[in-house]
Amino acid sequence: TYKSIISPSLLSCDLANLEKDAKEMMEMGCEWLHMDIMDGHFVPNLTFGPPVISSLRKAHKDAFIDCHLMVTEPAKWVAPLQKAGASNFTFHIESEMPEGGPKAMIKMVKDAGMKVGIVIKPKTPIEEVFPYVDDIDLVLIMTVEPGFSGQKFMPDVMPKVKALREKAPDLNIQVDGGLSPTTIDSAAEAGANVIVAASAIFGSDDRQGVINSLRAGVDK
Ligand code: DX5
Ligand code: ZN
Repeated sequence: TYKSIISPSLLSCDLANLEKDAKEMMEMGCEWLHMDIMDGHFVPNLTFGPPVISSLRKAHKDAFIDCHLMVTEPAKWVAPLQKAGASNFTFHIESEMPEGGPKAMIKMVKDAGMKVGIVIKPKTPIEEVFPYVDDIDLVLIMTVEPGFSGQKFMPDVMPKVKALREKAPDLNIQVDGGLSPTTIDSAAEAGANVIVAASAIFGSDDRQGVINSLRAGVDK
């Protein structure tokens, strides 16, 4: 069994007012804050890194800061993000792994005291994460190509969510990309429980309403 976790992606918030928007999300009942760390190389976009995570941590001591690494060499960022106060470190299995592969990467993150997740792109087969599911806290299954907010949800990814849920009944399965009150049912029925959303929340005049309806989709 699993429970709903809402992780708003702050990529679509007003980044000049990150502290305020993060606070609003927590006050609206969101458990996690999703931070999209992009290096302009693994994906064709550039966002923020450890200094911003560190400021967010200072502003919000109790926040669960859920970091989604879209970088070429995630191993390089384990120590800096740990120091900055990241709660969770989710790395792409398609990125460059240290010697020893994903297993070594998982150990590195755990040794640094953070929770660890593996993320796969829409075209990566779900079987690639199977060997690691017992050793990690979360699997993120991308429902858009990583890089930008505001893209369209890919329903054809749902069989991967279903297959993983059958294999791992208690695992946190996160979905990210195009989640909204209209697409949540498809993701929730497949078995996703950790919901990331950027444009659906921050683009709405009724943010609380969107958050509630995402949660209701998972909990029903
Ligand atoms: C895309 C990021 C997402 C993005 C989601 O690479 O991983 O977290 O912010 O944006 P929406 O919810 O607008 O698709
Ligand atoms: Zn993300």
